[in-house]
Amino acid sequence: MRIDVVTIFPEYLEPLNVSLVGKARARGLLDVRVHDLRDWAHDKHKTVDDTPYGGGPGMVMKPEPWGEALDAVRASGDGREPVLVVPTPSGRPFTQELAVELSQRPWLVFAPARYEGIDRRVIDEYAERWEVHEVSIGDYVLAGGEAAVLVITEAVARLLPGVLGNAESHRDDSFSPGAMADLLEGPVYTKPPVWRDRTIPEVLLSGHHGKIARWRRDQAFRRTCANRPDLVERCDPAALDQHDRAL
Ligand code: ADE
Repeated sequence: MRIDVVTIFPEYLEPLNVSLVGKARARGLLDVRVHDLRDWAHDKHKTVDDTPYGGGPGMVMKPEPWGEALDAVRASGDGREPVLVVPTPSGRPFTQELAVELSQRPWLVFAPARYEGIDRRVIDEYAERWEVHEVSIGDYVLAGGEAAVLVITEAVARLLPGVLGNAESHRDDSFSPGAMADLLEGPVYTKPPVWRDRTIPEVLLSGHHGKIARWRRDQAFRRTCANRPDLVERCDPAALDQHDRAL
């Protein structure tokens, strides 16, 4: 997969060099290119923002640098149209489902905004030719979209074939599709068996796979009730029964 990010803070994207995403890049599974939007601003001060039409506080990102930048990124490709992802608190909520959808696209271009956002005509212009997603990572307002780019890229990259060591390891993730789809993951334990007088649940030592799976499902259900009652309401009891019968 190829990912391009156009930003006025290229250094903000440096975490994409480390950990899972960094390793995926080093292994050639992910091609990430970060661009400075100001390279496409032509005045002496490399201006990328201006006052909003209609008045109001703050500044709006000008359309010309964005248009030139996105055209240049598109021209550097292989002729295919990329998918444009615009992080904004006004976007559609970012979910695991959307992460899966984006992970199946060969080329994502991120356009993170600063200030009050990007002139609307930019999104309208590219939406005529490209698949465009305006995406929010939560009901809060960040100072800019770069942190959202990091979040979305990490969630997408770990789904790419070959990126995670064990192909099974995201099967039981909270929010991944399947019988446990609407449950959060329960608690996990590792060695030593006793730490500060705290033991681990005995069932995990039983070697009984069916009992362990059932226990995990109960724990997941409890945690979901406590932290996300909204998800419990969405839960399909028939799917959980089927999950138990398969044990
Ligand atoms: N930019 C500012 N706040 C944001 C949010 N919650 N999600 C995505 N992009 C943003």
